[in-house]
Amino acid sequence: MGIMTTTERHFDASWRRTVYCGKIEGSLEGKTVILNGWLRCRRDLGGIIFLELWDHSGTVQVVLNPERDPALHERAKMLRSEYVLALRGVVSRRPEGTENEALATGLWEVLVDDFLLLSPSAPLPFDLDGADEVDETLRLRHRYLDLRRTRMQRNLRMRHRASLFTRSFLDGEGFIEVETPMLTRSTPEGARDYLVPSRVNPGAFYALPQSPQIFKQILMIGGCDRYFQIVRCFRDEDLRADRQPEFTQIDLEMSFVTEEEILDLLERYTVGLWQEIVGVELPSPFLRLTWHEAMDRYGSDKPDLRIPFSLVDVRDVFEGTEIKAFQAVLEGGGVIRALPLPGGADLSRKDLDGVNARSRELGAAGLAPFQLRGGILKGPLVKFLDEGRQRRLIETAGLKEGDALFVMADPSWRKTCELLGQMRLELARSRNLVEEGRWAFLWVTEFPMFEWDDEEERWVAVHHPFTAPMAEDLEKLRSDPGSVRSRAYDLVLNGTEVGGGSIRIHDPRVQEKVFEALGFTAQSARERFGFLLDALSFGTPPHGGLALGFDRLVMLLCGARSIREVMAFPKNQKAQCVMSGAPDAVDEAQLEELSVRVDLAEED
Ligand code: AMO
Repeated sequence: MGIMTTTERHFDASWRRTVYCGKIEGSLEGKTVILNGWLRCRRDLGGIIFLELWDHSGTVQVVLNPERDPALHERAKMLRSEYVLALRGVVSRRPEGTENEALATGLWEVLVDDFLLLSPSAPLPFDLDGADEVDETLRLRHRYLDLRRTRMQRNLRMRHRASLFTRSFLDGEGFIEVETPMLTRSTPEGARDYLVPSRVNPGAFYALPQSPQIFKQILMIGGCDRYFQIVRCFRDEDLRADRQPEFTQIDLEMSFVTEEEILDLLERYTVGLWQEIVGVELPSPFLRLTWHEAMDRYGSDKPDLRIPFSLVDVRDVFEGTEIKAFQAVLEGGGVIRALPLPGGADLSRKDLDGVNARSRELGAAGLAPFQLRGGILKGPLVKFLDEGRQRRLIETAGLKEGDALFVMADPSWRKTCELLGQMRLELARSRNLVEEGRWAFLWVTEFPMFEWDDEEERWVAVHHPFTAPMAEDLEKLRSDPGSVRSRAYDLVLNGTEVGGGSIRIHDPRVQEKVFEALGFTAQSARERFGFLLDALSFGTPPHGGLALGFDRLVMLLCGARSIREVMAFPKNQKAQCVMSGAPDAVDEAQLEELSVRVDLAEED
């Protein structure tokens, strides 16, 4: 390229940086420095060329003045955005009135004495400064450019520090990091598997691990006592802002433990991590709610406690009124629950219709609205409530002047709670009622062991099949699986599930019973999990553990909206890497070697 021949020189030790761009400060005034970095923007003012040089630490203004060196100034005219330079110059205070408060190095500039162009850049597909508004596909396709932004650098570096902290904390607690296989058998964690065909075993497939669950339990049986791993997991499931097909867990397991010890360790870890990464002192112990309490109050198993209103039971207020639909629901064993909305009395008729329409979309028969204005309760159902009932409704729901209340009656407790829980999230978000700047942690415990799957027409494990049932519910494994509670717990932060774990089954007979409840025959359980059942029969310590979603933790620490913002090379919503083009078709010969034949439907 023509520009490269303007100099015969090349990068050698004499051009090695003496300081990072973002570290230019007063102690360097008058000194000669060498900087290495990328050119961010350029301005020509009155013949003087102002450039910004960037590296991961920040940017600094560098100046080429024709009076200082006319030839150098001339040479600088061909410099463009994202060219890579080494330059030498003198640190100088910016002339009064030209300081840039917004920039850490904004009091200073470097007066350039020489520079070496190391690499030019093609014209940019998007502006790096405004990249937050840029189409994400474009950012992902040119991830190397996207990574050159201070925000992405900050996120990756926070992630790095978080993983360092994790390793040193867990090491201090007696954990050892053990790697487990990536080419393995499928472990049921509820998603589809990614499969890898085996060439030397034609027709057989490995599964990439959805988690190292069984291996970590076997490490406990193997006497490892305390295991951890910062480990990649693979799940073929529908993707969302907080879900990727491959993601990272901080996975851990401990022997001879109870819930208390695990939760305590995790709280100390989390408090330490927040202290280390964002300098925040988290209050502990964290709140604990049983799954039933969480559903009942917040309509979610991962409640966002930053929203200052929750569900209330208003059955008593409506029992025995003339509201026919409500009476029918109650007679059928249903529930009447309500969601208060602080400040909601300003909602117009049209707004209320909108709320109602949304609730129908979600599956409710409708939501009856009430509003407290001028000390008077308003709403289409008020006429059915005498004064005493009105007062009770206001008290039960904790309504204040200017608030609204939405009441739902439905045969199903679970559906009512989930629906009002969803409305709680949506209303809080759309009306800016989420208290930002808070870290609302909690534990959710005592999850149901099983959930009925309509499609598969069988019970499926809510956590995973290796989770121990609560001792007092053991007898109901056969007779009433739906009512069995498990010794599982989730860690929730600001409405996101950041971790989940459980005390495990260490008795092979209980494990067999759970497989049976899940619809496995003795033979099919043996076929899939025989190795685990065998292992359990050779002296198994009581054990338990948990896995934290590391990407989600870092996302929340960074204040990012999606885990894609804290992963160097994430996939898009269609599980594609738009930069490398994975997944892609492979050669016929490769497939043949693997004894795999592709049989696409017409439309594919
Ligand atoms: P679980 O399935 O709850 O538990 O996963 C643990 C945590 O991993 C995170 N997570 C994800 N993060 C990003 N993308 C995904 N697709 C994704 N799926 C899950 C969540 C979740 O809380 N083996 C058990 C742990 C145990 O029992 O010890 C397990 O994997 O933050």
